Amino acid sequence: MDTMIASKKNVVEQIDFLPLQGTDYVEFYVGNAKQAAHFYKTAFGFQSLAYAGPETGVKDKVSYAIRQHKLTFVLTTPLKKDNAIAEHINKHGDGIKVLALRVDDAYLAWHQTTNRGAISYMRPEVLHDEDGEVAISGIQIYGDTVHLFIERKNYNGAFMPGYAEWKTEYNPISTGLKYVDHCVGNVGWNQMNKWVKFYEDVMGFRNILSFDDEDISTEYSALMSKVMSSGNGYVKFPINEPAKGKKKSQVEEYLDFYNGEGVQHVALSTDNIIETVSILKNRGVEFLKVPSTYYNGLIDRVGKIDEYLEPLKELGILVDRDDEGYLLQIFTKPVEDRPTLFFEIIQRKGAKSFGKGNFKALFEAIEREQGLRGNL
Ligand code: FE2
Repeated sequence: MDTMIASKKNVVEQIDFLPLQGTDYVEFYVGNAKQAAHFYKTAFGFQSLAYAGPETGVKDKVSYAIRQHKLTFVLTTPLKKDNAIAEHINKHGDGIKVLALRVDDAYLAWHQTTNRGAISYMRPEVLHDEDGEVAISGIQIYGDTVHLFIERKNYNGAFMPGYAEWKTEYNPISTGLKYVDHCVGNVGWNQMNKWVKFYEDVMGFRNILSFDDEDISTEYSALMSKVMSSGNGYVKFPINEPAKGKKKSQVEEYLDFYNGEGVQHVALSTDNIIETVSILKNRGVEFLKVPSTYYNGLIDRVGKIDEYLEPLKELGILVDRDDEGYLLQIFTKPVEDRPTLFFEIIQRKGAKSFGKGNFKALFEAIEREQGLRGNL
């Protein structure tokens, strides 16, 4: 009996040692933060939130924080050469550097993860200004990507110390994007299980779903994927690795152009995907298109859904069902010149899965794009 209680206690401790409250923000290192902020405001409907740069006492870089509901993006550009940010952009092009996670205690999060084998990126630090304090710490993950742990319970400012509130007259309306549903990492050949183990051992995540190359392959390209979820389920990180196919895997194309491992896509949640995607399209966001034959027999495949088929077909929105409900999803084309980072727009209606039923149609669409780039 005592042993049972002890092992139950262990399980609880194992799940709870790193309670994450969700994604705090996603930071991109980009060649021109001013223009990138304009793009995400104009095309994706973010609002100006905060700015850091020479005017706020930050001498070597500028950062624009933008927000839409619970989604916060930070766009950062270095002002000088020969520094880590400039090197990151030189190597990877525009891409995601930081997946910041909200915690109750940034010191404890760093202590727990580094004790379990994580490599420190930033020792715990407390930043102050007149609006209070934010504690930050960080660890390294795949490639040059990092997790920052953000503790902001004692802060009332716009974003964080070092930033001033950024007020603009140009504020395009929201597109209805709400929060980060999941962030997918692309890792190298045979590296997926290493990173699955990292998220299990170092961060207390669980592997909730696995897809092998049988599930995720077309005639040509293939990949494998495992979905990692935080103990409380608020944060999900699927990890992809390339698999052998007749031609080059889409993950391999990413690794070639990003020059290493990194974030492949961020899935953004909406409560009304038809409305959100209609607005995004009108504002110039480009989406992958599946053939219209995808919609033949769709209702037979996924069962009854609340939405009319016609707008889904017109916009190219995909539907998939699992035991708990269904989901609607669509993927943008890469948002920079290199075929690297893209976004997924997702609306969940009960389903907790990731659209396995759409992989084939989707990957054929990706392969058509790869073929146009000469990378198959
Ligand atoms: Fe996804």
